Amino acid sequence: MSEQVSSRGTWSGRLGFILAAAGSAVGLGNLWKFPYITYENGGGAFVLVYLGAIVLVGLPVMMAEILLGRRAERNPVGAFRVLSQGKAGARLWPGVGMLGVISGFVILSYYSVVAGWTVRYIGLAVSGRLETLAAHPKELEAFFREFLSSGTQQVLFHTLFMGATVGIVILGVQKGIERATKVLMPLLFVILLVLVGYSVTTPGFGEAIAFLFRPNFGQLTRGAVLEALGHSFFTLSLGMGAMLTYGSYMRRDNSILKASAVITFLDTLIAIMACIVMFSVIKSFDFEVTKSAVILFTTLPTVFIQLPGGSLVSALFYLLVAFAALTSTISLLEVVSSFAIDELGWGRRRASLTMGAAIWVFGVLSAVSLGANETLSGINLIGRSSTEGVFGTLDYLASNWFLPVGGFFIALFAGWSLGRRESQETLEEGHGPMAVYSFWRFLVRFVAPLAIGAIIVSVILGVEYN
Ligand code: PHE
Repeated sequence: MSEQVSSRGTWSGRLGFILAAAGSAVGLGNLWKFPYITYENGGGAFVLVYLGAIVLVGLPVMMAEILLGRRAERNPVGAFRVLSQGKAGARLWPGVGMLGVISGFVILSYYSVVAGWTVRYIGLAVSGRLETLAAHPKELEAFFREFLSSGTQQVLFHTLFMGATVGIVILGVQKGIERATKVLMPLLFVILLVLVGYSVTTPGFGEAIAFLFRPNFGQLTRGAVLEALGHSFFTLSLGMGAMLTYGSYMRRDNSILKASAVITFLDTLIAIMACIVMFSVIKSFDFEVTKSAVILFTTLPTVFIQLPGGSLVSALFYLLVAFAALTSTISLLEVVSSFAIDELGWGRRRASLTMGAAIWVFGVLSAVSLGANETLSGINLIGRSSTEGVFGTLDYLASNWFLPVGGFFIALFAGWSLGRRESQETLEEGHGPMAVYSFWRFLVRFVAPLAIGAIIVSVILGVEYN
């Protein structure tokens, strides 16, 4: 196995893993998706369920995934195969890894389309046109609607983004992924801080905070609870082997507990900051949100024109969002590619190019399902505006079903198939005796699987909570 380790590469230092994993976690999930699903689900109670899911399910499952990856030093399919050898269900466990690889394939296909929107917005901001449009929210909305329904433009920007992702994944673990993250992630944080600082001065700030943190459980539906759970997986890049794959490149002198805690904290903080900014605008300017799925692109620019140097700030902001998305798409493609490299014996270049091309083709379906193609745009499983089209359908299925199901089995495997000695050994490597080990084990053995199982069953049976 040691020969394989050296050819797979590792992160350069302690910081390398945290940066890359945080780069994977922080992305469109925090800046695009979390604000709009929080808005759709009425705020407070939804946020509370989400926070609960992060702490009780997300954090322990993240530790479980990294632990499996580091122990096996493989892609998700290989990791389950190696680690389940000689254990019950050894033939079935690799299937969980396979579900992860498929989830990565599906998520990347539509994620890259949204990431493409940020690229369009960089251009729009640089040319100064965004400022003009944002002065009249209705015009910006009309512009955006037209942009969505232009198949050519959607495919073009999706192509650009997939191209960039493939290029970086070909360069490999250290050179490509790590280097860029070090500079741009902190910058994104700073600019968000500035925006939060601005929103504190707006009249709607208080209302925005109340909306976010004052729970109204009467509004909470079973669909919303499943969505909060699913999103806690999506935003932390869990349930499909991304953290497992990144963990397979992690050095053994890193503490899994500390790294997981830092990543989870940062990811949650950024999501909440994004909400504060966007809801302050909505509440301050009586903003009419007709399509919540595009708040990041139609509401937020209103903030920028209030700031000095608005065009510049917005250009920089969308550039950083594009970058945050890129560090996430890299991790998605890395899961699929590392599967092809380890399991099919392909070279890195061939794996990234072939898988990237296949994902691109599949993503075209999503790109033209935002209005360009009537049939593909018309599909809608559960009838919500955000689940429209191939695009909305895939997002709904992957986030709400694939990831929680994947997370369920990852928790079961780490809690029940791995023995106490095995998991404790890997978690304490680079950490030393871990006081909370038994607590972690309790969470992955009981709390996480039961919570995920109960939510999924309640949705399938159609049980309402109130
Ligand atoms: N966590 C990323 C985000 O919030 C999305 C992602 C999901 C990345 C799953 C990798 C794996 O944007």
